[in-house]
Amino acid sequence: CGIVGYVGTEDAKEILLKGLEKLEYRGYDSAGIAISNHDGIHVYKEKGRIASLRDIVDQSQSATVGIGHTRWATHGVPSQLNAHPHQSTSARYTIVHNGVIENYEHVRRDYLSDVEMVSDTDTEIIVQLVEKFANEGASTEEAFRKALSLLKGSYATALLDLEDPNTIYVGKNKSPLLVGVSDGVNVVASDAMAMIQVTNEFVEIMDEEIVIVTKDDVTIKTLDGVNVERAPYVAELDAGDIEKGTYPHYMLKEIDEQPFVIRNIITKYKDDNENIKLDENVRQAVLGADRIYIIAAGTSYHAGLVGKELIEKIAGIPVETHIASEFLYNMPLLSQKPLFIFISQSGETADSRGVLVNVKKLGHSTLTITNVPGSTLSREADYTLHTYAGPEIAVASTKAYTAQMAVLAIMAVDAARASGMEMNFDPLQELGIVANAMEIFTEQKDVLEQIARDYLSVSRNCFFIGRAADYHVCMEGALKLKEISYIQAEGFAGGELKHGTIALIEEGTPVIGLATQEKVHLNLRGNMKEVVARGANPCMISMEGFQEDDDNIVIPKVHDYLTPLVSVLPLQLISYYAALHRGCDVDKPRNLAKSVTVE
Ligand code: G6P
Repeated sequence: CGIVGYVGTEDAKEILLKGLEKLEYRGYDSAGIAISNHDGIHVYKEKGRIASLRDIVDQSQSATVGIGHTRWATHGVPSQLNAHPHQSTSARYTIVHNGVIENYEHVRRDYLSDVEMVSDTDTEIIVQLVEKFANEGASTEEAFRKALSLLKGSYATALLDLEDPNTIYVGKNKSPLLVGVSDGVNVVASDAMAMIQVTNEFVEIMDEEIVIVTKDDVTIKTLDGVNVERAPYVAELDAGDIEKGTYPHYMLKEIDEQPFVIRNIITKYKDDNENIKLDENVRQAVLGADRIYIIAAGTSYHAGLVGKELIEKIAGIPVETHIASEFLYNMPLLSQKPLFIFISQSGETADSRGVLVNVKKLGHSTLTITNVPGSTLSREADYTLHTYAGPEIAVASTKAYTAQMAVLAIMAVDAARASGMEMNFDPLQELGIVANAMEIFTEQKDVLEQIARDYLSVSRNCFFIGRAADYHVCMEGALKLKEISYIQAEGFAGGELKHGTIALIEEGTPVIGLATQEKVHLNLRGNMKEVVARGANPCMISMEGFQEDDDNIVIPKVHDYLTPLVSVLPLQLISYYAALHRGCDVDKPRNLAKSVTVE
């Protein structure tokens, strides 16, 4: 979901539609635009894809001002009615909004009991509040500020006023929002990618600020009406990075990019003497911690599970990895000198950001590991480590995951060396070997396509089992399969399966076993025998050195610490082909969003 806005001299509807297409990767289930010209404000909205919206936009209407929206349903089902933009009763005001207004029932009862609502959305109350205050005599700016001051929750919102057709009013709290600036053109976007075609200069908007955007001017104010000055920054984004090229799907392109990403990370984190190059402040923050708390969601959480093992084994610092949404309302007892590490591809996940805001209030040290350096989590944490994976567009995360683990390994070794520990593991060199090993899979796709065909064409479910680091990779493999193929999948600790879940194994149930860990690969083979004895259809993935004759896939030997970076590749590709064979929308799976900016 996301929002866009444009005020300039060109045809706004085309720029808005293109901007929304660039936001498609974030996930959505309906979309809409409103354009403002001499004969009024024209609203077009539709359930489903941007392509359907494009079909209903009246091409004869031209305008140089407009706002647009993709919606991922929170309040109210996905429908044309609930799609944005929404209008006030008199249709003077038109609004788009991302986020969730938590107190909307109260606001509605206290301020809008006499107003008839058209939609089921929490958004509509914002536009109705603005109209109410304007009817009571406030200017649009005052009415907008007053309305936003009453709201609890998150919003990135843009408003058009019929009586002032050349201005967009924008407001932000918690949800991401940027204003892009150029000569005689200004734009609004949830992320820079949406408007990079128009400008690469953006101004950050902070929580509880509004912006009044016209063709020639951008005025930022607090909700109290105090002016704020802020210089723009240049977004380091290449429009070419976000094209699919000859690939049928972004996901496949991003899987293939992993060896390059790892080599890029090696270059970025290497100094002229071939040593690790890392910000001294980050090093001190890691060394100064008596315990590290990794906070993340989804795939990034799975990278964090591997990160815990890496940091504990390499640097000897205790680590806890937590799901952000759980930590947010159920914080464990903290150590004396904690360091919080936020892992987030997008840098925008609301659950993780909620934790960041809370622990900053407690005065704790914070570091974000992200793929988007200008993102909220990066800006707001004390320090940032960049994963240099390039834009990740497919909803199912692939290259960001391996990049996160690579950066965690580098960070762990840096801390270990700085504290004088003996190290015979050179991550920069070992990651080079990882990149080569990855290439073997990106070049052997037919084998993985065949496995997907043999095991997953008709299955309803699938199990992934592994032990130690392999267990965490199994969780990620299962998540990939669920996300894009809709096959119910579970990543399980090999030894734990027999304590209950094995009851689900039936004749033909696919079980994918991962055995790359020296200490436990034989135990895992034992666990595979247990499921085979109960009818499972086994697929064995092992590592060179531990392989047996009829293993389906053998990954090349890489350092024990780094096996997850390679063993996940066959799982990503198996999921990709399973989804493809089942006719699923690989890059834009149902119900999912790439960047979840609501709690
Ligand atoms: C969403 C995406 C997942 C992602 C998770 C965390 O749920 O669909 O692919 O892993 O958010 O995102 P982040 O950007 O914080 O890594």
